[in-house]
Amino acid sequence: MTKPFKQHLIDPEICIRCYTCEMTCPIGAIQHDDNNVVVDADACNFCMDCIPVCPTGSIDEWRVVSDAYSVEEQFGWDELPPQAEITQSEAEGGLEAIDDAIAALLADAHAGAGGGAVAPQSAAKPAVNTYNLGDPIEATVQGNYRLTEDSADIDIRHIILNFDGKPFKVLEGQSIGIIPPGQGADGKAHLPRLYSVSSPRDGERPNYGNLSLTVKREEGGLCSNYVCDLKPGDKVQVTGPFGATFLLPEDPQARLLMICTGTGSAPMRAFTMRRQRTLGGHSGGMTMFFGARSPETLPYFGPLAKVPQTLLQTHMVFSRLPGQPKEYVQDRLRQHEEDIAEMLADPNTHIYICGLRGMEEGVEKAFANIAESMGAQWVALRDTMRQEGRYHVETY
Ligand code: A2P
Repeated sequence: MTKPFKQHLIDPEICIRCYTCEMTCPIGAIQHDDNNVVVDADACNFCMDCIPVCPTGSIDEWRVVSDAYSVEEQFGWDELPPQAEITQSEAEGGLEAIDDAIAALLADAHAGAGGGAVAPQSAAKPAVNTYNLGDPIEATVQGNYRLTEDSADIDIRHIILNFDGKPFKVLEGQSIGIIPPGQGADGKAHLPRLYSVSSPRDGERPNYGNLSLTVKREEGGLCSNYVCDLKPGDKVQVTGPFGATFLLPEDPQARLLMICTGTGSAPMRAFTMRRQRTLGGHSGGMTMFFGARSPETLPYFGPLAKVPQTLLQTHMVFSRLPGQPKEYVQDRLRQHEEDIAEMLADPNTHIYICGLRGMEEGVEKAFANIAESMGAQWVALRDTMRQEGRYHVETY
């Protein structure tokens, strides 16, 4: 067994076999047969040169694996395999390897179209890996509130954890790990699952040593059901914090364009509360495009509606309103083409995208169209923004 690591793959369902990546790769790590174009895990050095040249985005696929998929295996694929669970027994490199696996999963979530995430230049320095599987911190559940209406078909929860006076330094945009109790079929402890923190750095309630999470109950989900069923007073094992790039700029003049779906609103809530507590309406501005099925299933619908417009402009976008056509965040971005174009042209603008992985492609296309309307080239603009720490993606 080897340590889990992130393997670079190409999606055979999306790839158009133009071989541009193969021609671009400086070390010959990409090859093809009559069926597929594939990356040799033994050769790939993660230089990322192939990522921006791919016309479809099929090149930007990653899986955390213990044993790499061979070139021959990849030649036989009609579709990508799903991300396999990394079990503790697979991670026999020990606890350090498990923490590496978590870091790799987060890097995957942050890869965005084009990879290579960079923190905002003015972001505060985050603490990472303060607590790990070998040395977790115990938190006490302070609250568990349902955010979606009782009648709604999805159950999203606001969970408050208190660290009982122990230090847990976390910045807006970071994630923590929760270790579900019990053992897997292999008799080993479960691995932590990552959740994005939805409160600001000074806590859900300022200076009370707590934080909040926004968690959706997934059918059959081991950890999400555990978390969504927690009761006040329950003890929870926590690791982290994790993440050093999806962070809030400290520069008050930074302009934030936040695009999210469902529980992807967690970091956006943290950003908004941080600015509300420290800057009030005196900032470069914040605009949010937030997609959900309906008002009943949009987390923090009520509180969001009360945030002053001087602090945050909110666009709530619903996909399942009776008698209405489906609308996604990318559709609403297009409707506001002029405003978005003006933001894209502003070197103070920082973009944050968080939520369903599927949204990323649609949002990118909308940005590409908007950029075109202003005579700019989206991929070049996006790459510049990313290098300057102004383009952040966390999708799952
Ligand atoms: P849909 O009604 O098509 O499921 P969820 O409630 O499952 O967490 O999803 C949050 C929101 O994201 C829903 O409105 C969902 O719409 C929407 N959504 C699903 N797929 C995409 C996509 N590819 N791009 C943008 N939004 C999406």
